[in-house]
Amino acid sequence: MDRTRRLRMNAALRDMVRENHVRIDELIYPVFVIEGENICLPVDSMPGICQYSLDCLPREMDRVVRAGIRSVLLFGIPSHKDETGSGAWDDDGIVQKALRFLKSDPRYAHLLLIADVCLCEYTSHGHCGLVQDGVILNDETLPLLAKTAVSYARAGADLVAPSDMMDLRIQAIRQALDAEGFLYTPIMAYSAKFSSSFYGPFREAAHSAPGFGDRKTYQMDPANGREALREVEEDIREGADLIIAKPAMAYMDIIRDISVHCNIPIVAYNVSGEYAMVKAAAAAGFIDEKKIVLEILTGLKRAGAKMIITYHALDAAAWLSSLS
Ligand code: PBG
Repeated sequence: MDRTRRLRMNAALRDMVRENHVRIDELIYPVFVIEGENICLPVDSMPGICQYSLDCLPREMDRVVRAGIRSVLLFGIPSHKDETGSGAWDDDGIVQKALRFLKSDPRYAHLLLIADVCLCEYTSHGHCGLVQDGVILNDETLPLLAKTAVSYARAGADLVAPSDMMDLRIQAIRQALDAEGFLYTPIMAYSAKFSSSFYGPFREAAHSAPGFGDRKTYQMDPANGREALREVEEDIREGADLIIAKPAMAYMDIIRDISVHCNIPIVAYNVSGEYAMVKAAAAAGFIDEKKIVLEILTGLKRAGAKMIITYHALDAAAWLSSLS
């Protein structure tokens, strides 16, 4: 008789047949750096997450190193914004300064530094591309994204992660990186990125809410799964090395579809709204935070993610090392 419970009867057996594991090596921790001094400003909707000025960044980075996390995703909050988002490709921009600092400090030089490439934190209108008469321009935005990626690579980024969702930006960025000699700087492409309400807390953290309208003309419609595969296939053709699917929890089918159809490592972005919901429910005593977080991360692995970008990374790393 087939009795599936036989393999569940003790912990050693359960551990032995377990199909998926979350590894600290595969977690990526987002970090917000802000222009200014002596700033460690908590983000209200994301308990535990702060914006750090450069002088305070070591406080956070020491926690990253202690937790055994090996990779961070950097977001910048500049002191001024303009129509074109010029702060993004300013060689003295906040992310560039953070990259140079982290690469030159022996405490952090071993970390894999990923720079999010987008204009929305740097534009006065908060959109991810140039705007003309209320329309978000595509092709005119591409050189700006490419310049930004090159500037980050020059400052020390190990990978660049374009999150803007303009068409053809992976090709533009790849060509620009190659032309500048960054042949081996991988592109982690936000390919299946949906126009989602789960980004709300991030926009508070990164000061990047659109000033008018929404992002529906460039980010994907949450109702479309098949279209996500087109986005991914296109980005792979253009030269993406890694694919991000985002958000994660309400979009696990997307992760699964990509893993079935495409032979490329997948990164799940467990986004700000997902983090905020878990934190709020845990603070209310409604759920067990540790168990819930580890279950979510394991679920993302099971769906097909290879890596996970998550604001829970430091806690998760501590929990995982106490398990082993
Ligand atoms: C920038 C960007 C966003 C996120 C990552 N990069 C916000 C957006 O597209 O509005 C969201 C991350 C999160 O919610 O955790 N384009």
